[in-house]
Amino acid sequence: MYLEEGDVAEIGLSSHRIFDASGQAVERPVHVSTLSNESMELGEYRHYMQKEIFEQPQALADTLEAVCYSQSLVPGIFGAEAAAAFSQVDSILILACGTSHHAGLVARYWLEEIAGLPCSVEIASEYRYRVSVANPKTLVVTVSQSGETADTLAALNHARAQGHTHTLSICNVPESALVRLSKLRMLTRAGPEIGVASTKAFTTQLAALFLLTLVLAKQRGRLNEEEEQRHLHDLRHLPSAVQAVLKLEPDIARLAENFADKHHALFLGRGLHYPIALEGALKLKEISYIHAEAYPAGELKHGPLALVDQDMPVIAVAPNDALLEKLKSNLQEVRARGGELYVFADAGTRFHSGEGVHLMQMPEHAGYLSPILHTIPLQLLAYYVALQKGTDVDKPRNLAKSVTVE
Ligand code: G6P
Repeated sequence: MYLEEGDVAEIGLSSHRIFDASGQAVERPVHVSTLSNESMELGEYRHYMQKEIFEQPQALADTLEAVCYSQSLVPGIFGAEAAAAFSQVDSILILACGTSHHAGLVARYWLEEIAGLPCSVEIASEYRYRVSVANPKTLVVTVSQSGETADTLAALNHARAQGHTHTLSICNVPESALVRLSKLRMLTRAGPEIGVASTKAFTTQLAALFLLTLVLAKQRGRLNEEEEQRHLHDLRHLPSAVQAVLKLEPDIARLAENFADKHHALFLGRGLHYPIALEGALKLKEISYIHAEAYPAGELKHGPLALVDQDMPVIAVAPNDALLEKLKSNLQEVRARGGELYVFADAGTRFHSGEGVHLMQMPEHAGYLSPILHTIPLQLLAYYVALQKGTDVDKPRNLAKSVTVE
């Protein structure tokens, strides 16, 4: 039974009662779950987080199913009214919390570059209390794995109260409050995520946001037939590309041993991969309790370089993209201060392991989809560091999976 806003349920061994917000006893319809027992069982894995990291190829394939089997992209995947709504939109506002906010930060790069739409991304708990200037032509996109985060729901209500009418939610729970509140929706099909630290929910959110970018770009005449087919081809290849990255697991497990006695870590990325550095740092702090922060590598010289010494591991996300040479010179600055580097580099980037440089070679460069691939080793790193530290991986202290209070 899905509770309505304000409902309270009393559950006994053989009975239940539900009261609505005014205290009246009510009945809510029963829905029979289609989830298989198997999807909730650990199977061969030690923790749900590990299982969920390894479920990502399937979760992505399921999320992308509708598009991967079709020959072209259609707005209908976001709802029947999407085509009409998208044609009126001139900008995007993404509202989310935590890991979902990081997915929004990646999407900003895609939406501006590919779809040519100005995009801002705000932390929902800030937006809901900020006096902002509403543009009725903005598409408000809320991103949430649970669809029940109190701040994200309040931010959406705040946006609506300010006059925003175009609303879209990207969510992993079909019946959630967020989905019910939004006009348009795209459901990620990651399946139940038990580990508090979000993994497969994040990468499927990225896949959904990339689809949104492509659909908007096409509708705005910024995607020709050849480009559309190329993107569709890359999306079809994504699950197997993720599978290839997962093979790094044993190497990352070994690398993680170096982190067991560390108290701080710095994650660096640039451009599209700066939010992935943020996500890597969040994963590490959530489950290993090592203080971690992320910086866009070009900002090093404006503060964080002062912290770098042999006790501060520096993790770099190094895709083979246009900013590679800039990143390399940023990393030289770290080495020059005695910082120990852990570089997750694409093929063709010509990084070499050596004194103070640990190289983790990624199989390929995935272009616009690269942030999805670069997320995987950082999830594994956090997981194996947490194992080293003996923390409760699936239920880190003080954190909750779904934050339904302010
Ligand atoms: C909690 C979870 C995070 C999640 C955040 C936002 O803090 O532990 O994993 O990213 O809430 O949740 P949402 O369900 O809105 O994505």
